[in-house]
Amino acid sequence: MSDAGFVGRLRLGVNIDHVATVRNARGGAVPDPLRAARLAEAAGADGITAHLREDRRHVTDTDIEGLARDLTVPLNFEMAATEEMQAIALRHRPHAVCIVPEKREERTTEGGLEVAQDENRLAHFIAPLRDAGIRVSIFIAADARQIEAAHRIGAAVVELHTGAYCDAHAEGRFDDRDAELERLRKMSAFAHSLGLEVHAGHGLTYDTVQPIAAFPEVVELNIGHFLVGEAIFVGLEASIHEMRRLMDAARD
Ligand code: PXP
Repeated sequence: MSDAGFVGRLRLGVNIDHVATVRNARGGAVPDPLRAARLAEAAGADGITAHLREDRRHVTDTDIEGLARDLTVPLNFEMAATEEMQAIALRHRPHAVCIVPEKREERTTEGGLEVAQDENRLAHFIAPLRDAGIRVSIFIAADARQIEAAHRIGAAVVELHTGAYCDAHAEGRFDDRDAELERLRKMSAFAHSLGLEVHAGHGLTYDTVQPIAAFPEVVELNIGHFLVGEAIFVGLEASIHEMRRLMDAARD
């Protein structure tokens, strides 16, 4: 995923973690996340995202191996900033890594990474990844302090956490939703002004994707849980097509 122009086509990264969640509920081999990734590719995904968590609650090391080996679109490997994950990334050399915070007790990635208070360690942590030619993205809240810190440590990309915006929408707190959206809009522009590539994701649905897709500085959205859930009703190909259609319509 190279640097895109200012208002280029918005890329869709499909996160297949929750195909693995369903598989793991029975401990067998199906549904196979790699098959879902291939289907997503065929349906027009511009990249595949997978988060290898410390507790391997969804995708496993074998899944990552298969994705790194077989995908034709770029792999965005989500990982915590641990030595174990760094070694795995350096072994597979995915197109990109997205550094995310991780707590064992959380159900999903609840907040952005605290970069500002961990700047030195993170700068050293990402250096070998950058040296290996891997594009480094940092998953952060839409917060100027965190964006500046991500820029200082040498990240190429920031992914802005859209969870608070999506939660406010789902809970009918529309004033909060609009405030979150405004914050995301301003911070997308700010990150772009520093020369960072801007991505966004977490919790996006058909109902919430368009205002984010309309931000001209955002070049990639990473979406998983909703697409996999919707696939139960309409199939993965159709859920991806509809998301793609909404993104393109918002971009126009
Ligand atoms: N981006 C990042 C950095 C994430 O951690 C996740 C969740 O794994 C997503 C995007 C996708 O979020 P969702 O599954 O809610 O669409």
